[in-house]
Amino acid sequence: MNKNITVVIGAQWGDEGKGKWVDHFAKDSDFIIRFQGGNNAGHTLYINGTKLVLHQIPSGILHDEKICALGAGVVMNPYALKEEIEKVRSIRPVTPKELAVSAKAHVITPWHIWLDIQFEKSRAFLGTTKRGIGPTYQDKAARSGLRVSQYIDDEFRLGWIQHMTASIPEFSQCLKEDEKGWQQFHEAAATLRPYVSGVETNLRKHIKENKKILIEGAQGTLLDVSYGTYPFVTSSSTIAGGAAASLGIPPKYISHTVGIAKAYITRVGEGPMPTEINDSVSEEIARKGSEFGASTGRPRRVGWFDAVAMRYAQEINGFDYIILNKLDILCGLAELKIATHYEHPTLGVLEEFPDNAQILAEVKPRYISLPGFSSIKDISGQNLSKELKTFIEAIEEHSQIKVGLIGVGSGRDDFIRL
Ligand code: GDP
Ligand code: IMO
Ligand code: MG
Repeated sequence: MNKNITVVIGAQWGDEGKGKWVDHFAKDSDFIIRFQGGNNAGHTLYINGTKLVLHQIPSGILHDEKICALGAGVVMNPYALKEEIEKVRSIRPVTPKELAVSAKAHVITPWHIWLDIQFEKSRAFLGTTKRGIGPTYQDKAARSGLRVSQYIDDEFRLGWIQHMTASIPEFSQCLKEDEKGWQQFHEAAATLRPYVSGVETNLRKHIKENKKILIEGAQGTLLDVSYGTYPFVTSSSTIAGGAAASLGIPPKYISHTVGIAKAYITRVGEGPMPTEINDSVSEEIARKGSEFGASTGRPRRVGWFDAVAMRYAQEINGFDYIILNKLDILCGLAELKIATHYEHPTLGVLEEFPDNAQILAEVKPRYISLPGFSSIKDISGQNLSKELKTFIEAIEEHSQIKVGLIGVGSGRDDFIRL
């Protein structure tokens, strides 16, 4: 059996630093594939001081002789992908040899973006990225969506638009209001056509040949459509188990599951977040950590590390270990906190992450307090300060998880192996 399939999953509410670590693992992989989400994601890489934010292309694209792919579970925005290909091309060649798009993936059309914006205006506000993600997955589930294979077929694409115009009254309004978006949508089809292939067939072939496969997750466990803080979630399955279903591979082939987390926690958009803080400490973390959405530029909400949520993420994903990023950002704070339990006004002390977002909104975290650390010393991991070690050990103990590596900067090499 192939023992070479690693899946990288966000362990919190997204933006944990997945991009940096997928780039890291990609150098030892042959095939790097995104399994879900779309351009709601923003994965940041810093290569020799140059920043690159990827939204749809897997974060392995900067390595030579790798194949990067968008899998069947992805929703793809064609014009945004065309532009992203151009952006990466300013750094290195991107051809259908390096990048493949599954014919089975679904297409985000200007209609889906229009609907996302209307929903956000009209229903309870979720704070989506307004990239059309929810409506595209909605159409996929309703069996009325447009697959990539159909999108690149000019006749089919035009027929789909005709059918939608005839069956949905607001569709014509969207066609009129977003003429430019529709023009770009059509224009991208010719550019993307050569990239579309039977990604799944190739993936299975690579698995048979015992090649090293890296599966990139987007968003995070607490944004999963079933297991996240519903309804304040994204519309796909973001958890490790979702990878097998989204890519059509046997779950038993996934040999390594790595969780990515921050040493604190952030969230963009609405929804409960028990350890959220709004004081001079959160301001300092947000400022030092540049906590602004990589896709939308929105400020990220900041809070202390939540071990209750991490225990839950561990139970769901079964991480072999987590990578704890951004420890450098906590350097210099006098006191650090970790939430170990929640307290609910009527339910008492909760050890487990509640199933219900309403209950989660009513809890108060119980913290342990730890001394801060003033520096991150030895790059070998042998000579970390006592306070830093204590903080990492407390996270391991209260989250019932192993921390394998820590992130100490945004650059490719800014990490310490423990
Ligand atoms: P992703 O969506 O999970 O890929 O994460 P984002 O790219 O949206 O956000 C993570 C941010 O943290 C990016 O700006 C990264 O460059 C940055 N980052 C990742 N790891 C570290 C770290 O250990 N230290 C610092 N200072 N920044 C980091
Ligand atoms: P990466 O991959 C953080 C959040 C949105 C909103 C909710 C639903 O960079 O970690 P959607 O547009 O998906 O319907 O929005 O999910 N969200 C993210 N938050 N990181 C992301 O991706 C996110 N993608 C979506 O802010 O709360
Ligand atoms: Mg991000």
